[in-house]
Amino acid sequence: MPTSTPPLTCYATCPPGAERLAAAELARLGARTGVRERGGIAFTGDRATLYRAHLHGRLLHRVVARVATFRAGALPELFRRTGRLPWEGWLTAATTVEVRATSHRSRLYHTGAIAERVAKAVAARLAATGDGGTTDSPPLLLFARLEENRCTLSLDASGELLHRRGYRLATAKAPVRESLACAVLDLAGWRPELPLLDPMCGAGTFAIEAARRALAIAPGADRPFAFQRWRTFNAPLWERLVAKAASLRRTTLPAPIRASDRDGSVVAAARANAERGGVAAVVELREGDLFDLTPEGPPGVIVLNPPYGRRIGDADIADLYRRIGAHLRDRFVGWRYAILCPTTTLADATGLPRKRHRFTHGGRQVVVVTGRLA
Ligand SMILES: C[S@@+](CC[C@H](N)C(=O)[O-])C[C@H]1O[C@@H](n2cnc3c(N)ncnc32)[C@H](O)[C@@H]1O
Repeated sequence: MPTSTPPLTCYATCPPGAERLAAAELARLGARTGVRERGGIAFTGDRATLYRAHLHGRLLHRVVARVATFRAGALPELFRRTGRLPWEGWLTAATTVEVRATSHRSRLYHTGAIAERVAKAVAARLAATGDGGTTDSPPLLLFARLEENRCTLSLDASGELLHRRGYRLATAKAPVRESLACAVLDLAGWRPELPLLDPMCGAGTFAIEAARRALAIAPGADRPFAFQRWRTFNAPLWERLVAKAASLRRTTLPAPIRASDRDGSVVAAARANAERGGVAAVVELREGDLFDLTPEGPPGVIVLNPPYGRRIGDADIADLYRRIGAHLRDRFVGWRYAILCPTTTLADATGLPRKRHRFTHGGRQVVVVTGRLA
């Protein structure tokens, strides 16, 4: 069966601030990337590219495929044009859609009415083509986006958000999203050949994501995706890609990955997460205070996601960031670093030479400072 198909026009979301890195990841996976917006990248690619993005993407949150764009100035027009689209080519009899609508600078602004008309038109089309049916499985998401009276309909390819890898059941304090952790590792210049240290590890996200990358564990190998329920799903192609990914798996790390936290209960949670993530045998986890830590072996990368300080108080939190900077300058000469800071004031408090990168995380701004200790 041929694997290359007419290109799909897609859009991927990613952590706001990580667009350049996510576009590079998509390009590595075979996509032709286009316009980048805050938190998203347009791209085109064939079915194999879409599958690889889901199987290997570490920085992506969701991918949607565009079904059509058309003018829609009124609800009857929206209904009629939606109903003319060949939904039976995308959806099987067993699928229903849940429509999420947005509207900007358009005459149609009532998103509830837009969603209702689109859903009805799709259902009517499937019924008329003899393809309608009832099902117990959850509906597929269909995004209806009205922009200057033009409606774009895009079908969700992902299902559950891609950064939810599934291993992190035991969450500690303020865990960082898996996708953002991967972006920070990239920015810090970490690669599997370099030792990695996360001495404020919380749920262990940085260490687990790094170890999974170093062992070439494909993030999407063991979970279902929405595109597997599309009519066009090519199961043999997907299985071939999964088998190829499995054949590239490694069992040992080229350089150590160590994580610690001063809170023993948090370390236990990180260990359980590492277990589920398939990397407990290779990540070195222990209890300990950052300020007692002196690195062993050749320099590598230290990543830090210190407390944000809502419970600690302003003066003390600034002091913590200042002490972190001093400790790194004192003991980590030759190491690269990445520190996730909640504000630029706290980034400044570290006193470290740096590059700044701005992200939005859980609705909050965060500043990641990266550099190398000379
Ligand atoms: C924001 S959380 C880290 C979250 C983590 N990146 C994750 O994904 O779960 C900050 C962590 O720093 C730890 N911590 C605070 N002060 C510390 C210190 N002096 N030494 C080691 N760990 C510390 C806390 O116990 C907490 O787990």
